[in-house]
Amino acid sequence: MTPEITRMADFVRVAAAADVPPGAATVVEHEGRRIAVFNVDGTYYAIDDTCTHEEASLSAGARNGEIVTCPKHGSRFNVRTGRVLSLPAVVPVNTYPVKVDDGQILVLPEPQRGRGMPHKV
Ligand code: FES
Repeated sequence: MTPEITRMADFVRVAAAADVPPGAATVVEHEGRRIAVFNVDGTYYAIDDTCTHEEASLSAGARNGEIVTCPKHGSRFNVRTGRVLSLPAVVPVNTYPVKVDDGQILVLPEPQRGRGMPHKV
């Protein structure tokens, strides 16, 4: 078995792509980790669902394109890069590789460190 095949097998099913239309988000839990998946104009992005400031679900936040606003204190994060864009959070969220295969959204639950400040996209 090649490393590529092993790696593909590690992807976790999130949802049917049809169930997460543009502008929507969903959450998958895997081994104690909550991963939020956002559909931004037909492209899926995955980040940690929990805000890095305190306990809040980013998938429940308001969205504007690639930007999600934490529903608790208003920090903004870029769902593509994980970058934190405004206080009070200062730590970026992890991002995760996402793909769509046979109509299913799949996430590789291996966190990629998001980028930090400055407060620019
Ligand atoms: S919990 Fe997200 S900004 Fe405070």
